[in-house]
Amino acid sequence: MEYTMETLAQSCAECQNCPLGATRTNLVFGTGNPNADLMFVGEAPGEQEDLSGIPFVGRAGQLLDKFLYAVDIDRKDVYIANILKCRPPKNRDPLPEEEDACIGYLREQVRLIKPKIIVCLGRISAMRLIKPDFKITKEHGMWFEKGTFFMTAVYHPAALLRDPRKKEEMLEDMKAIKQKLDETETAN
Ligand code: URA
Repeated sequence: MEYTMETLAQSCAECQNCPLGATRTNLVFGTGNPNADLMFVGEAPGEQEDLSGIPFVGRAGQLLDKFLYAVDIDRKDVYIANILKCRPPKNRDPLPEEEDACIGYLREQVRLIKPKIIVCLGRISAMRLIKPDFKITKEHGMWFEKGTFFMTAVYHPAALLRDPRKKEEMLEDMKAIKQKLDETETAN
């Protein structure tokens, strides 16, 4: 089936492929520019996201916004989504079967958006999208070329709230992402 972003969101809203569809408050499909060159992919909605239906609006999201601002990236210009579109109870890690049930929606989002750069926010996203043995402490900020786009991973903003010492590395990674974005945009 050929989706548009609207029909994909509609199909996602009706999804009962895993039990989380029945326990969530709102679907958190994704938000931002549907033609973005830069896409961020987090793990799963938290409490604030479940309540609002928008990804990264809670404390972690507000910290992400600060990093975007610091490197002169406008949140309106990027697209932000998660591996899971529904909140796992008590913010537990996604189960492999939940990821398997949900990942097709993200794949379709990537197909429709055609970003040049995908940034995984945190280990769970990097392990799913870059490689299963991804080590976030060692491999954050590294670039991986995948088909038509570049991928990298940064610390999850929630990890930065727990350990603010990681913020310096996050800033360096975000600066490199901005530079890569500028390079890919001038290349065309
Ligand atoms: N953490 C995530 O991984 N995604 C969100 O949308 C919010 C918090």
